[in-house]
Amino acid sequence: MVYMSNSSAPISPSPRALTQDELKTLVGQAALDYVVRGQWVGVGTGSTVNKFIDALGSIRHEIAGAVSSSVASTERLRALGIEVRDANEVERLAVYIDGADEIDGKGYMVKGGGAALTREKIVAAQSDRFVCIADASKRVPVLGKFPLPVEVIPMASARIMRQFAAMGGQAAIRMANGQPLVTDNGQYLMDVRGLSISDPLAFEAELSQWPGVVTVGVFAFQRAHICLLGTDTGVQTLTFD
Ligand code: 5RP
Repeated sequence: MVYMSNSSAPISPSPRALTQDELKTLVGQAALDYVVRGQWVGVGTGSTVNKFIDALGSIRHEIAGAVSSSVASTERLRALGIEVRDANEVERLAVYIDGADEIDGKGYMVKGGGAALTREKIVAAQSDRFVCIADASKRVPVLGKFPLPVEVIPMASARIMRQFAAMGGQAAIRMANGQPLVTDNGQYLMDVRGLSISDPLAFEAELSQWPGVVTVGVFAFQRAHICLLGTDTGVQTLTFD
């Protein structure tokens, strides 16, 4: 069950539709309401989270600091004077704030478009609440249209690609500057097209067992509890049971 509300103040009437960038700014700022003052906050990765990090800078003296899910987010946080600690140094986080490539009606997500899925899942797992921030284009009825990111150990990549082909998916190694992209964890990433993920929990459970899979970009066990969705009429708050 999903509950919706337009909890934030309505935006002033605009003669034009808001750009995707403006929608990201809107939800990045709205996420400040979910940051527990005096505590460490879990911070995700991506262009929407960058807006949140910029907003977080304005309350940096009110939080203990952050646990970050990527080198890129860590650098951005530190540049704003926010202390960043390793995940091993903070036992529990009240909240984790991150974007998504897709989110369905139960708070299940596809993530990893920014290649940070493994650390994102780790920080999400040690957080009491996952607040997803996204523009409205990310809301989907069924996961799978966005190519599914999967982080893999390089020596297993050919076999994993064959396994995806056997289930009707087309997997490709993500490239950067003509070379396989190497993640923050020193591994490869593949993007898989042609999947329709109707049972995200079962899908994530099964693929996580494949030898050589580091992390599958389906976040079902670490789903969102709340989604702040940027729409032309303001921030829509989706709360998942
Ligand atoms: C990074 C992620 C991001 O949260 C996801 O790709 C959304 O990014 P953006 O906010 O730039 O659209 O999972 O690994």
